[in-house]
Amino acid sequence: MTIPTDPSYGYTEMDSEDARAASRHYWDNEAPAYYAEHGEFLGDVDFCWCPEGLRESDVRLLGDVSGRVVLEIGCGGAQCARWLATQGATVIATDLSAGQLAQARRLNEDTGVPVPLVQADAITLPVRSESIDIACSAFGAVPFVADSLALMREAARVLRPGGRWIFSTTHPFVWCLPDAPDANGLVVFHSYFDRRAYTEHSAAGEPLYIEAHRTMGDRIREIVAAGLVLVDVIEPEWPEGHDQVWGQWGPLRGQFVPSTSIFVTAKPH
Ligand SMILES: C[S@@+](CC[C@H](N)C(=O)[O-])C[C@H]1O[C@@H](n2cnc3c(N)ncnc32)[C@H](O)[C@@H]1O
Repeated sequence: MTIPTDPSYGYTEMDSEDARAASRHYWDNEAPAYYAEHGEFLGDVDFCWCPEGLRESDVRLLGDVSGRVVLEIGCGGAQCARWLATQGATVIATDLSAGQLAQARRLNEDTGVPVPLVQADAITLPVRSESIDIACSAFGAVPFVADSLALMREAARVLRPGGRWIFSTTHPFVWCLPDAPDANGLVVFHSYFDRRAYTEHSAAGEPLYIEAHRTMGDRIREIVAAGLVLVDVIEPEWPEGHDQVWGQWGPLRGQFVPSTSIFVTAKPH
């Protein structure tokens, strides 16, 4: 069994500015490689919630989107937004990273399903209050912001009363486990209660990649503090026959513990 000891990463207190800078740097540089590795699995016009392969066309967590104004937060290549457009939604796709949005622009042309793309930090969306019917995010922004309460509040601000905000993110339990899809990833090695951000940094100590952590209780508390109602939490099980590994997500760990959580929330009328 290998417990990671690489000194180029660790756990640090992270403010919003540092997290934003690290994420922009990382996703701007990684966008082509990320698409090359995961693009086929995601589909250019498809809404995939997570590495377990849960697709919106099957689970319909957003409900009927036809005629709705839908905001995607942290859209990456905007695959989800493009699928939503084919279902009759009016979509706006937002992301922090110019590199990711360049992929999205290319896919807009290649697929012939163009969606509007806006560069924006999820915490300060250039969107009018109470103008959105449904906000959604598939692993966009939520794992990467230092202040996820601010993100919950921002999503609540843009939603009209009765609107829904639904997002997938890393399951909090994953925090305890090494970043490995094989048997090395099946040992609890880190405290679930350590809220410092996982950080990869340069030799000069600059943060190059960050992922923030919240416990399950923290997530629920932040949703409630933002004035939203928690409707459901989905912990997708690993499907039989699905053998594609994505980072530390894979069929072995998937037999034992969840790696994704999807929060379904609503803004009260
Ligand atoms: C794992 S990708 C997910 C994108 C897409 N849903 C997918 O499945 O490929 C995470 C995305 O979140 C974006 N992101 C990270 N921090 C963000 C922030 N503060 N505001 C908006 N987007 C952010 C990144 O640029 C990246 O495109």
